[in-house]
Amino acid sequence: MPPSINQFLIGTATPPIPAARQWLNAYDGRLGPPINLAQAVPGTPPPLELLQRLSAAALDPATTMYGPILGEPGLISVYARHVSKFYNATVAPNEIAITSGCNEAFFVTTLAIAKSGDAILLPTPCYFNHEMTLSMLGIEPVPLPARAETGFLPSVKDAERIIQERATNNAQPLRAIVLVTPNNPTGAIYPPTLIAEFVEFAHKHDLWLILDETYRDFLPPSQTPPHHLLSDLSARARIIQLYSFSKSYAIPGHRVGALLAPPALMQEIVKVLDTLQICAPRIGQIALQWAIDGLKDWRDANARDVDERGATFRRSMSVAPHWKITSLGAYFAFVAHPFGALSDVEVAEALAVQCGVLALPGSYFTAASADHLRFAYANVAPDLIAEVGHRIARLRL
Ligand SMILES: Cc1ncc(COP(=O)(O)O)c(C=O)c1O
Repeated sequence: MPPSINQFLIGTATPPIPAARQWLNAYDGRLGPPINLAQAVPGTPPPLELLQRLSAAALDPATTMYGPILGEPGLISVYARHVSKFYNATVAPNEIAITSGCNEAFFVTTLAIAKSGDAILLPTPCYFNHEMTLSMLGIEPVPLPARAETGFLPSVKDAERIIQERATNNAQPLRAIVLVTPNNPTGAIYPPTLIAEFVEFAHKHDLWLILDETYRDFLPPSQTPPHHLLSDLSARARIIQLYSFSKSYAIPGHRVGALLAPPALMQEIVKVLDTLQICAPRIGQIALQWAIDGLKDWRDANARDVDERGATFRRSMSVAPHWKITSLGAYFAFVAHPFGALSDVEVAEALAVQCGVLALPGSYFTAASADHLRFAYANVAPDLIAEVGHRIARLRL
């Protein structure tokens, strides 16, 4: 018998995207090139000016050395200014840490505020890496179901009910609630009033509010800023805001994310960051110091382009009337499939094999979403998105 493996890790789900990608290998190309709508990655490379800056930073021997644990001071100060302007707030550099991507920011956050045996409230369907993080750390992910009928918006009333039930059952106390807006997988955009209600809820039950805003740059201008919490100092005391440079700057491979938290918590987070990464990759950090202001127009144009792809997806699906888009926004469409008797995994596999269209089964995000598939349309060229509906309409099961 080999030595034992961490049981929490064994009980954690296996990364789902590589397995789903295999399905496309069985597609024979009869309807045209494969269309991969499985992963939320940018569809176009970053502008040449950013690539040149990345390349210049890579040629500088200084970037081969370790950098500061919490991030390059230059990037921290530009990001603090940017966030202050975006949210009409005053954010200081000592509230910011740069991480190796937003996934790591989430990992670091949970490790900093909870320990094995604790519980965290997670609206479902949820981003699977969030659930995986909690599971491998031995933290109980407590589902807060967000339903299609309410546009996949979680409700404070449901959250209160869960708290009461847990109190009756003497369950472990909750440490935090996680909100992802715009949401992965549903694309739902939480109204500022709803986010504010959850802050009140967090105050009442003494919870942290973890706010993952990976997709905030893809909000329509009429919906920014997405909330007003950063200008509210009492809210700020319990908010941990996470951000990813992967999508907005089209550099997921450079692994840069940001975490905003109260300075007292940051003093603890620095221990986790030092242990986990020593420093985030420096090349991306250095190039981003320019890109935050330098690529503003490009980012805005890119967001409009992604928004247009969403509209193209909606039009495309009109030729497959038995499929229903229940939610669409920012990067994703969450679509109910018409094959009630079959599992979503069977439907997604058949769609890939017969039609060359890869989407992720809804159950990858919560068991209750097995009647849905998630389409990440942002990375696919408009002419191919326009074809998706025609291909889907040909699926026979
Ligand atoms: C909600 C959410 N958070 C975090 C991430 C990961 O971002 P990063 O590449 O910065 O680790 C993703 C990527 O899909 C995401 O959807």
